[in-house]
Amino acid sequence: MSRKPIIAGNWKMYKTKDEAYAFIYAVNVELPDREVVESVICAPAIFLKDLVKREGENLRIGAQNMHYAQEGAFTGEISGSMLKSYGVDYVVIGHSERRAYFNETDETVNLKLISAVNMDLTPIVCVGESLEIREAGTTNEVVKKQIEKAYLNVDVKQALKTVIAYEPIWAIGTGKTATPEQANDTIKAIRDVIAKLYDQSIADEIRILYGGSVNTKNVDSLLATSDIDGALVGGASLDPNSFLTLVRAAYKKEIK
Ligand code: PGA
Repeated sequence: MSRKPIIAGNWKMYKTKDEAYAFIYAVNVELPDREVVESVICAPAIFLKDLVKREGENLRIGAQNMHYAQEGAFTGEISGSMLKSYGVDYVVIGHSERRAYFNETDETVNLKLISAVNMDLTPIVCVGESLEIREAGTTNEVVKKQIEKAYLNVDVKQALKTVIAYEPIWAIGTGKTATPEQANDTIKAIRDVIAKLYDQSIADEIRILYGGSVNTKNVDSLLATSDIDGALVGGASLDPNSFLTLVRAAYKKEIK
């Protein structure tokens, strides 16, 4: 079964307005066909409206977070319906930085996932283990629980609209990438969990990305594995040439 790859940049809290515009301008004309690979930039909320206006045919814009309620007295927050009304297409949910610093829990991840798909946004749902858990040998159990909690009360149709990102915390921003084997093994384990929650055909269809120090040097070996369907990329997504190289790596693999 062929799953269309996604290269999603996560800019985190980087770039000024002018830098953001310059990036979009530089990549727009160079990006390969969206029918072959989905290129996404998840930008800080303040840039979203302007970047959606500037996105070319082959680029889509995503948010880095959202609130699960459609509206309400939640000062400082942004809802999925607000994102959708500006033409945002994707939203990162449950990034480990939000889990670590902003009280994101498996329960709020679940509520946000449901809210996002109901708003017709594509959630990129992040899971991943700490170094302690990796060293204790319990990665797959921990990630399994994260997935089960994220997909609680999520029906098949909703599940099919989601994308998962496996991001080991110890690999994020550290330059210590998981080996292709480590990443692929855990992603396979995630696929098994999805198969148990739904069925094998759903598990075969859902796209699962790897994230954690992906760069222009290691992207080919990660994408050469059986189960990694693309990447969620922080640092290496900030430079237009580096982002383009990652997208082209996914493109080359697809058209082979
Ligand atoms: P990194 O970040 O590529 O800089 O490690 C990945 C992420 O946080 O999504």
